[in-house]
Amino acid sequence: MPTRTRSSPRPSPLVPASPPAPIGIFDSGVGGLTVFREIARALPHHPLIYLGDSARVPYGTKSADTVTGFTLQAAAHLIERGIGMLVVACNTATAAALPSLQSSLTIPVIGVVEPGARAAVEQTRGRVGVIATEGTVRSKAYTRAIHNIDPNIEVIESAAPLFVSLAEEGWANTHVAREVAEIYLEPLLDANIDTLVLGCTHYPILRDTIEHVIGDKVMIVDSAETTAASVLAAIGTSSNGAAKHTFLVTDAEERFRRIAGEFLERAIEHLELVTL
Ligand code: DGL
Repeated sequence: MPTRTRSSPRPSPLVPASPPAPIGIFDSGVGGLTVFREIARALPHHPLIYLGDSARVPYGTKSADTVTGFTLQAAAHLIERGIGMLVVACNTATAAALPSLQSSLTIPVIGVVEPGARAAVEQTRGRVGVIATEGTVRSKAYTRAIHNIDPNIEVIESAAPLFVSLAEEGWANTHVAREVAEIYLEPLLDANIDTLVLGCTHYPILRDTIEHVIGDKVMIVDSAETTAASVLAAIGTSSNGAAKHTFLVTDAEERFRRIAGEFLERAIEHLELVTL
């Protein structure tokens, strides 16, 4: 006599699977869009919420305590919106606040320093230059992260704060940016670095200019690309739902719409002004 086996219940085709919780991506301004772009490429179906604290940019010249306070406020706002993971797409905020965020939040939090440091160690022949904001350089976060993996690597950190303004201004490919890059990068080239870490998420916006100045003998580590790879590894494969991309700013939304639209080469829909 045939036995009846209970088949496991199948999801009804009429009930669509609920979309995954969005990934929150946070920066002081437009710089984190470099990370946003890479994550959107790696996970094209995953909902993303980008928050740029345009009212308080730049973070790089402020104290670690101030940056930590701003970052906790931004994280709280994104948590209220239901994110399932937070990507701190700002090196300055990562250097100042990552441990506080990781101990106070129950969702996974990914910063940009560790993935950048790992990529630098994999690429270098022994001499790494790091350009970053004053706050990140002062924290020595990159030197620590690189030396945790390999203490024999020589790390030279140098602040390049004007790159942030040039990126925010949309001046990445001007002769002004070229001259500023020459001033910032010459001491690192004189120090014979073989690898350059773009230790601020605004800097990949100036990548063409930076590459032009450093030539092809120095390898570039872009923390946006390496962070997106870490997010992909943590999330796994992309779901099939529609990818809603929401953009939040704390000031000057039309300015953000223009600069972000030029950088991402698309119209910026779903843009909201928020107060943290
Ligand atoms: N994009 C940020 C970083 O990676 C901060 C730049 C700033 O606000 O000074 O450090």
